[in-house]
Amino acid sequence: MTKTINGFSKLSKDEKIQWLTETFSSDASTTAQIIRSWQHPAAATQKIIEGFAENTVANYALPYCIAPNFLINGKVYAVPMVIEESSVVAAASSAAKFWQERGGFHVEILGTVKLGQVHFYWPGEPAKMRTIFPEIKARLLNSCTDLTLNMQQRGGGVLDIELIDFEQVEPHYYQLRVSFETCNSMGANFINSVLERYADVLEDFFTQYPGLSDLERDAEVLMSILSNYTPQCVAHAWVECPIDSFAELARSQGMDAGTLAQRFSRAVRIAQIDPYRAATHNKGIYNGIDAVVLATGNDFRAIEAGGHAYASRDGQYRSLSRCNIADGVFRFELEIPLAMGTVGGLTTLHPLAKCSLELLGNPSARELMCITAAVGLAQNFAAVRSLITTGIQQGHMKMHMTNILNHLEANAEEAAAAQHYFQHQTVSFSSVRGFLAEKRAM
Ligand code: MEV
Repeated sequence: MTKTINGFSKLSKDEKIQWLTETFSSDASTTAQIIRSWQHPAAATQKIIEGFAENTVANYALPYCIAPNFLINGKVYAVPMVIEESSVVAAASSAAKFWQERGGFHVEILGTVKLGQVHFYWPGEPAKMRTIFPEIKARLLNSCTDLTLNMQQRGGGVLDIELIDFEQVEPHYYQLRVSFETCNSMGANFINSVLERYADVLEDFFTQYPGLSDLERDAEVLMSILSNYTPQCVAHAWVECPIDSFAELARSQGMDAGTLAQRFSRAVRIAQIDPYRAATHNKGIYNGIDAVVLATGNDFRAIEAGGHAYASRDGQYRSLSRCNIADGVFRFELEIPLAMGTVGGLTTLHPLAKCSLELLGNPSARELMCITAAVGLAQNFAAVRSLITTGIQQGHMKMHMTNILNHLEANAEEAAAAQHYFQHQTVSFSSVRGFLAEKRAM
């Protein structure tokens, strides 16, 4: 039986499910039933969700969670997070509480500039390109007023167009690097529309400009697309407190406050100098960042791509956060690119994304960047705090125990008994299974 198909996208949803399960599932009716059960009960909402992507057959559910008590720039937020990893939200909430009692999170926006590129080849002399570029730039800037008017009225638009010459590494290759301010929108569609217009104008320029040789008329635009590397669209978040303020936490771990602060700072330093550790350290930051980005209908792949590129900006992949101890004060900070929006795209289309923004007080994109950066820093703080004290598994497996108990079909009484017993025992799948087996045999 052939497993390929022409025109899958043209089938109705039911036909898609039927073909898919009959062709690929060993138990077509059960699989079809599962897929059919993951639909939104309101047909209109389901239709909206299906509009997000091609060939939708079901909705994939992830927990929509809240991390309360985030004091950020003097304002308290309950932050929505969408994440499947147990312990992430508990860790964020615990860090939020800890810092709420120590002045909260401080965040400043270092910039909101986004970038796009038109990549093109031109066989003429680089010196000539530099001479004619001011004229090209003027034409480009004049060519898009219909596309940019709205954005300009909101205070944004095209900020600048630079010519980048790659002649040394790739003969005849140039780039227009265009900078944009997209206000409260993430701006991907706006940026890409402007860039594609620029590509047309650029090719026309070389066809029409007087005095060029035949060779020089031969400009070839290869592609036009925004860049997800946004080193000028960055939030800087920090927390600080006197080291003494760690006394209680340190005591609970059998250390003094100075030792705890020192161990924390060393852990962050290691992520600065070793890329293997840096990747894991930054993953901890993105546990928080991605969860907020998803909950607010933003593009987590874009945010991750930009962040990891930024982490490598000096040529080595490093931690996005830093820690400093001076004059008895502990300071922990994060600098992270966050190209986010609060209007357009999924932010208003996805009912829960819309709800997240409403719960956050309908923030501007800048405010959402502040909130997201604070959650990233909180998440990083909680992870490193665990690593240098109890280790990560204790908290993680406690949270994961719910998954294990569900998997083993524990009833409420068994689950409560297990939660009680494992307060002071190491949690693992087999230890919980053993505990339940013993209990069930009694
Ligand atoms: C796990 O999802 C995240 C951590 O590995 C982050 C870290 O190691 O810093 C705990």
